Amino acid sequence: MSAPSGQPVVRPATPADDAFVEDLQAIAFGPGRFARTAFRVRERFPIDPTLSLISEVDGTPSGSVWMTPISVGGMKGYLLGPLATHPNFRKRGAGKLLAREVSKRALARGEGHFVLLVGDQDYYCPLGWVPTTPGNIQFPGPVDTSRVLLLADDPDLAKTLTGSIAAFDAGK
Ligand SMILES: CC(C)(COP(=O)(O)OP(=O)(O)OC[C@H]1O[C@@H](n2cnc3c(N)ncnc32)[C@H](O)[C@@H]1OP(=O)(O)O)[C@@H](O)C(=O)NCCC(=O)NCCS
Repeated sequence: MSAPSGQPVVRPATPADDAFVEDLQAIAFGPGRFARTAFRVRERFPIDPTLSLISEVDGTPSGSVWMTPISVGGMKGYLLGPLATHPNFRKRGAGKLLAREVSKRALARGEGHFVLLVGDQDYYCPLGWVPTTPGNIQFPGPVDTSRVLLLADDPDLAKTLTGSIAAFDAGK
């Protein structure tokens, strides 16, 4: 894919990106990343490497996003994150491009019905995520319920989705 100079593009990650992604997550989230509740979800349920995307600017990796297939209350979906852009490449649209693109690719598979994340409303709501009903979705650790956001074709799902985060194959 080509883009005007300086503009981010997105491609699937390969094993050759592993070191970049590890360094980027350390820079973006620091040592506290291992204590985050979303990290605990990813410890229990593996990410889908085919939904791991890299943004590039003029051929240089600039950002990364992962997806973890999960289910909630018997419904299949995905947990988005971590999403990070390298500080040298921020404010060029890479973060929003990665969030949009990975969600589009995941939902296009027709198996999962939502993309859940824990993040800032100001960043994600303009992209289509909406707040969930506080306390309805249980994480394996503490979470600020106002940051639990959902993207779905069904406009009511953010209000109604209820249950603990479980394995993808526990859902339908
Ligand atoms: C958040 C992050 C991914 C944004 O990456 P990015 O490539 O700069 O994002 P974009 O270029 O698509 O969007 C940038 C815009 O979002 C705004 N923005 C960035 N973080 C924001 C936040 N937490 N809340 C609201 N707005 C935010 C920027 O100010 C900028 O606004 P502008 O376009 O008006 O200048 C990046 O700053 C990052 O890696 N941060 C550290 C890790 C992190 O917090 N990840 C998100 C976890 S939920």
